[in-house]
Parts: sequence; structure tokens; C-alpha cells
Amino acid sequence: MKIHIISIFPESFESYFNSSILWRAKEKWLFQCELYKLNDFSDNNFKRVDTKAYGMHWQVISPEPLAKSIEFIIDKVGHKIPVIYMTPSWELLNQEKVEQYYKILDNEFIIICGHYEWIDQRIIDLYVDYQISIWEYVLTSWELAASVLIDALVRHIPWVLWNTESLEQDSFSEKFDRQKEYPVYTRPEIFMSKQVPSILLSGNHSEIEKWKKANLT
Ligand SMILES: C[S@@+](CC[C@H](N)C(=O)[O-])C[C@H]1O[C@@H](n2cnc3c(N)ncnc32)[C@H](O)[C@@H]1O
Repeated sequence: MKIHIISIFPESFESYFNSSILWRAKEKWLFQCELYKLNDFSDNNFKRVDTKAYGMHWQVISPEPLAKSIEFIIDKVGHKIPVIYMTPSWELLNQEKVEQYYKILDNEFIIICGHYEWIDQRIIDLYVDYQISIWEYVLTSWELAASVLIDALVRHIPWVLWNTESLEQDSFSEKFDRQKEYPVYTRPEIFMSKQVPSILLSGNHSEIEKWKKANLT
């Protein structure tokens, strides 16, 4: 999977993508992330990319640098790829949608991250294929919303997770009948007077499977 991210703060992705499972996925070339600084596409002498919105008091991202950056990526890739815009007010993301996006995004896509409150609507009308909300609340950071989507998608790439069973037993997943996972225990057997359910210590796999089904949360 290759993700092109346009952002004013591309560095904000680095610590997150350079740790744990996403870092390992990048090291194994299972997931590639190309970061583009939006200001590099500005014709303004000060590399500004924002301006005042018509009829409102807030700043928005101007259409020109966004259009230039999107066209640049499409030219570089050699064909049109899906463009995603994260927004609180559109289609809500859940595990079912993540599974659908994983299939339809075709392994390579662009995510636009702006700044301030909004981007010019014409960019959405002209270029954006999917508008995705990570749920009904408003974040300050566009990069954070994009990272949530990326993390949920990357998990589905074969070999990213060591144990494919974890993906099959992910809460809300299709393979797990959209249910939530059962409780999990480890050593010690007794912790603060609370005991691990004895069936999990029995070694009886069919009974353990029954216990798991009966204890879905
Ligand atoms: C401060 S928010 C803008 C909110 C906008 N004024 C509104 O009320 O919908 C800045 C940006 O962060 C991203 N963002 C914030 N919350 C989000 C969410 N729940 N899902 C997806 N993106 C979100 C979006 O790209 C959004 O445009």
C-alpha cells in the first residue's frame, strides 16, 4: 500500500509512522508513505497557503496549492488515484467501512490534510473521491484524523500483523461476525484475589472456544 499525504505539517506523521507496527510494515515495504509539504506548492513569496474565507471570519486553505500538489502526485504516479479528504461531517468510519476502503482504495491513494477550519469547497468538488469522518467530534489536527484511517487500513495488509488470527478476531470485523472481543487473561493465575477463569487453564480447546463465544463482550 502506498499513501501520498499532503500536509502543512508532514513532520507530525513521522514519530507515529516510525514506531511499532507501522514502522515494521514500512521497513518490510508493505506500506509506503510519501509526505508532501503543501507550502512547497505555493506561488506566494512567503509560501503561504491560506487566505480569508468569503463571508466568514476564518482562514481557509486556498485551492491553488492543493490543486497543484494533487496534480503533481497524479503526474508522478502516471494515472488517477483516489483522493481522500478527512472531515468530521461526512461518512462515519467503522470497521465495516475500513474493510470496504481497504478493498476499493486500490493500494495507492492520496490523503489531503489542510489547516485552520476548512479547505476551499472547489477542491472537494473537483478532486475528492471519499470524504471520511473518524466519528462525530471535532479534532484540531487533520493529521491525527488521517493517522487513524491509515492505522486502521494498514492493519489489513497481509504480513503486517505477525499473527493473522488477530485480524480475524478483531472486534467488529466481518470474520468475527461484527462482534466485540472476549476478555483476555495472562499470568499470574491470581491477581489481587481475582482468578483467571479455570476453563482457560484446562487445556481443553473445544471448551475454551465455547467459553470465548459465551464471553463476547
Ligand atoms: C478544526 S477541524 C474543522 C472542523 C469544521 N469547522 C467542522 O465543524 O466540521 C479541522 C480538520 O480536522 C479534520 N478533522 C477533525 N475532526 C475530524 C473527524 N472527526 N473526522 C475526520 N476528520 C476530522 C478535518 O480534516 C477538519 O477539516
